[in-house]
Amino acid sequence: MENHLKGRDFLSLKDYTPEEIKFLLDLASKLKAEHKQGIGHDLLKGKTLAMIFNKASTRTRVSFEIGMFQLGGMATFLSIQDLQIGRGEPIKDTARVLSRYVDGILIRTYAQSEVEELAQYADVPVINGLTDLYHPTQALADMLTILEYKQKLEGIKLTYIGDGNNMVHSLMIAGTKLGMEVRVATPKGYEPSAEIVEMSQAFAKENGGKLVLGNDPEEACTGADVLYTDVWASMGQEEEAEERKKHFQGFQINKKILELADSKAIVMHCLPAHLGEEITADVFESPQSVVFDEAENRLHAHKAILAALL
Ligand code: CP
Ligand code: NVA
Repeated sequence: MENHLKGRDFLSLKDYTPEEIKFLLDLASKLKAEHKQGIGHDLLKGKTLAMIFNKASTRTRVSFEIGMFQLGGMATFLSIQDLQIGRGEPIKDTARVLSRYVDGILIRTYAQSEVEELAQYADVPVINGLTDLYHPTQALADMLTILEYKQKLEGIKLTYIGDGNNMVHSLMIAGTKLGMEVRVATPKGYEPSAEIVEMSQAFAKENGGKLVLGNDPEEACTGADVLYTDVWASMGQEEEAEERKKHFQGFQINKKILELADSKAIVMHCLPAHLGEEITADVFESPQSVVFDEAENRLHAHKAILAALL
């Protein structure tokens, strides 16, 4: 497939067709294989990326910055505290100014509407590096990881246990678009957004996928190929953390849950992990855990996004 993604934003995987997602996954696999063989690329020679961060980050920040460098371009890190946005300069002005300097903008912030406003006013592609609603770059890297371990995505049973947050929203969209059976088990009151559930159900119907929602982790894990979890309290929910601990008891990937899954099941986590909460240390460190391959794949998936869009 030819690249039809030049100039596009990457705000949510809902805006990408299954073919476009598969194109990015193929490109990521190719760039990864070549990188391992020592084959370099100048695909983004002279190109630049501004990276606006309004929340902490290890993986997203480093992998995008290094990804730009490896493709012959450069990235500049912009913490919100140091930008004039922090002193009240409007997002729409920031978008128009940065568009005069750089070839793409990555942003991590709270409201999805801020990312959308930035994209509306920027003349260059805007990439969502995590909002309260979505984490699409992580979900793309996760699909790459599942593909590597399972050799296919269609029909794969992906069980997510925990909070109905940004991570599960992006996994539901990616998974149903790619024909997976996505099962989600959350505590009552912490379900994913009804709007995204409805959208993902439609994607599942169109693409031969399935979406099953519930509040029973054991049922959701039975026979699963992939077990996935994320923190009980996301960035911005620090004050709810203690209260959430009470509601999330039992919504944990542990030995007992793992035994219910397929014997070759892999365990995934976007990281950072809170051991003893959403995942136990023994499972996190077990041979079935692929969390560091998953983290590595952020680099390769992001290089594909950058090479395709910028
Ligand atoms: N998984 C993830 O996005 O990690 P960071 O918060 O470290 O970027
Ligand atoms: N749900 C988590 C993901 C971190 C990568 C958060 O938003 O904090």
